[in-house]
Amino acid sequence: MSKLKIEWICRNCGFRSDFWSRYYWRCPICGSPLEIEYKKSFEPESGRGMIRYSSMLPMKPEKNIGEGDTPLIIENIDGRKILFKLEYLNPGGSFKDRGSSLAVYYAYKTGYKTVVEDTSGNTGISVSLYSRIYGLKTKIFMPKTAPEGKKRLVKKLGAEVVETEDRARASEEVLKYVSESFYVAHTWNYLYVLGASTISYEVYEEYGPPDLVITPIGSGGLFLGLVKGFEELYKLGRISRMPRFIGVQGYNVQPVYEALKGYKEAGEDSSLADGIMVRNPPRLQEIIEKIRLYNGEVILVGNSEIEKALERLLDLGFIIEPTSATVYAAYEKIKNKIDEKTILMPLTGSGLKI
Ligand SMILES: Cc1ncc(COP(=O)(O)O)c(C=O)c1O
Ligand SMILES: [Zn+2]
Repeated sequence: MSKLKIEWICRNCGFRSDFWSRYYWRCPICGSPLEIEYKKSFEPESGRGMIRYSSMLPMKPEKNIGEGDTPLIIENIDGRKILFKLEYLNPGGSFKDRGSSLAVYYAYKTGYKTVVEDTSGNTGISVSLYSRIYGLKTKIFMPKTAPEGKKRLVKKLGAEVVETEDRARASEEVLKYVSESFYVAHTWNYLYVLGASTISYEVYEEYGPPDLVITPIGSGGLFLGLVKGFEELYKLGRISRMPRFIGVQGYNVQPVYEALKGYKEAGEDSSLADGIMVRNPPRLQEIIEKIRLYNGEVILVGNSEIEKALERLLDLGFIIEPTSATVYAAYEKIKNKIDEKTILMPLTGSGLKI
């Protein structure tokens, strides 16, 4: 598979470069997020987990620690079928493992010895976990406000944690290490979009396409990945219609809502949703385009709605973190206004590390 041409490409300026020769966390010419171009075919391999979809990905990692193949639990709620995809049961406790299994393998394969990343939490755990299994040294820049449980786990995995004043400062600090280390840059890195696309392939194989997908949006990697997965299946003629896509943000940090509507909406504090506080998603334009293309919208939620949703999800047996409950909080807000009968909600992060 790796003999076929795989390239980094920039849709903005046309930059192209061989994928395996050199890593770019963003376009070296114009600074835009990059994509990866390669040949795909939907030929699931035998076996479980992400490895099934190697023919849809630019690489097949050597190590496989159980990422992907998460349970799909179908609940009948309000006369609908809600498809809960238990992404929090991935090895590092979040869907980020899908992207990290690719990105850290790439770092290892291209000869890097150290990995750096800026994150509010889950990506730090995930990157530290995959770095550990490939024997790479890791430095994680995290805001001091990140949940203690997440910081503890990153340290336990052997990574160095550098605490910064806030999330923006973490992103500035990490840039000092970019020349000598592999900067994962998950909010930019297309491997995280491709990793998340495998969620759609699993749902397609197990159930078929849902009518509607509701996802949290931080950097939008998860959202764009789910869209991409179903788009690929549509292009290949595997499905005959695309789902509708709804994104969820908190009132405190709502860049996608603002870009879509042209104004900010005031609401209660949403600090419980720490995983989706990304002020400047690098792929914002693309997120907006996809929301418009698929008749979507962005729903804003706050702490009291998140807490209520968390309780409801615990009733169903799902131990998840607050950020992950935002999808159900959003559903509660719109349930009387939507017609869709099957709704996919990925439950993104585990509540065990809080
Ligand atoms: C638990 C959880 N859910 C959702 C997200 C949002 O993912 P994305 O940044 O891909 O939009 C994150 C991101 O960190 C997260 O930690
Ligand atoms: Zn460019």
